[in-house]
Amino acid sequence: MKLSNKHILVGISGGIAAYKIPELIRSLVKAGAEVRVATTPNALQFVTELTLQTVSGSRVYSDVFAAVNEHATEHISLPEWCDMLLVAPATANVLAKMAAGIADDALTTTIASCVARKPVVVAPAMNDKMWESPATQNAIATIRQWPNVRVLEPVEGPLACGVVGKGRMPEIDELQEAVTYALTPQTMSGKRVLITAGGTQEKIDPVRFISNYSSGKMGFALAQACARRGAEVTLVCGAVSASFCNPFGRIRRIDALSAREMYQACLAEWPQTDIAILCAAVADFAPAEQASEKIKKCENEKMGKCEMSLRLTLTPDIAKALGESKQAGQRLIGFALETEHEKENALRKLERKHMDAIVLNSLRDAGAGFAVDTNRVTVLLPNDNSFELPLQSKESIAEGILSALGF
Ligand code: PMT
Repeated sequence: MKLSNKHILVGISGGIAAYKIPELIRSLVKAGAEVRVATTPNALQFVTELTLQTVSGSRVYSDVFAAVNEHATEHISLPEWCDMLLVAPATANVLAKMAAGIADDALTTTIASCVARKPVVVAPAMNDKMWESPATQNAIATIRQWPNVRVLEPVEGPLACGVVGKGRMPEIDELQEAVTYALTPQTMSGKRVLITAGGTQEKIDPVRFISNYSSGKMGFALAQACARRGAEVTLVCGAVSASFCNPFGRIRRIDALSAREMYQACLAEWPQTDIAILCAAVADFAPAEQASEKIKKCENEKMGKCEMSLRLTLTPDIAKALGESKQAGQRLIGFALETEHEKENALRKLERKHMDAIVLNSLRDAGAGFAVDTNRVTVLLPNDNSFELPLQSKESIAEGILSALGF
C-alpha cells in the first residue's frame, strides 16, 4: 500500500518490542511516507537515537528541554505536522499516562496534544500479567472510547520474559496495515462485504484432489482494501497459500475447501451482505464419487489397466445463485479468468450470472492472474462502460477496482 507524501509520527516507549521499530520505519519510508520520531527517555535504552535518526532521516524528539530542539514546542509542532500518530510499543506506563492525561516527557506531551486532533493508533506490548492488570485494562478501556484512537490488540505468543501469553506487539506488516487504516477515508463504513478467495479442492479419494493454481492473493488484497475503507468483511477461503493482515479484526474468515462448501457458506452469508466480490477460482466440475479409501495403483495394474477415468459432474454455480436471489441494494461483482475471446466471454458471464460488474484478467498477460503478486484487469460494467487497470501490485489493483466501482 502506497503512503506517498503521508506524514507519519512514530512514538516509541520503553519496551523490548522497540527493537522492531527501526524496521517498521524503513518500511514506511519505502512506501513513500515521511517519518518523524518521538520517544520516552526509556525507549532509548532499547533502540538508539542514531538508529532512529538514520532510518527516519530526521532528528529524534526525545528530550523536551534539549537545547538542539528546532522549536521550543515540538510537542505542539509535531502533531501539527503529522497525518497520524502511531504509538508502538505502548507500555503499561505510557497507557496509564495517556488515559490520565499525564504529559511529562517528549512522547507523552506529544500524545496529549495530538490525541484530540489526529488519528492515533496505539500498539500495547508488555508482559501478560501487566496487560491483565486492572490499571492497564482501565486505561485501555478509557483510551478505546476516544474517537480518534484505535487500539491494536497485543497478540499471544512467547514474551521476552520467557513465558507464553498475551502481550506481544503485532508484527511489522500488521502495524503498517494499521497505519494505512488510520490514513484511509472510511468510504465503506457500515457496508458488509462478502469476498471469496483461493481455489477449491475437489476430492477424488482421501489423498488426491482436483484443484487450480489460485493462491488467494487477489482475494486477500480485496478483503484488506475493503476493511481498510471501513467495511466488515466475511472472507470465504478455499485452498490458499498466501496470508493477509487483519489488524483490527474487521475480516472474518470462513474456510470452505470444496465448491459445494463454498456455495453453502456464501448462500448462508448472502442475505446479510451488501456487496459480494467473487474472486475465488471455483472448480466447474468435481468427481461424481469420492472413493472412501485410497485408489490403489497396483490393483489396476494387476488387471492390466493402464488407464483410469474419472466421472465429473458440474459444481453449483455460486455467482449465478447469488445473482438470481439478489435483492434491491445488493451488488454482485464477479471475476473472469480467460485465455481467449476474453471480453466476449466475460460479458456473457456478467449477464448470465446477473452481476453488476465483472473484473476480467487474462492468462495471456504476463504478470497477471494466478499466484503472481501483480495483476492487470479490466472492470466491465453492464452499460458497456469499462475501466482498464494496468499491470501493478494486487494491492493497488484491489484499491483501483473499489474506486472504479465507486466504493
Ligand atoms: O488467487 P490468485 O493467485 O491471486 O489468483 C487470482 C485469480 C486469477 C484466481 C482471480 O483474479 C480470478 O480471476 N478469479 C476468478 C477465476 C475464475 O474462476 O473465473 P471463471 O471465469 O471460471 O468464473 C467466473 C466467476 O464465477 C468468478 O467470479 C467465479 O468465482 C464464479 N464461479 C465460478 C464457478 C462456480 N462454480 N461458481 C462461481 O461462483
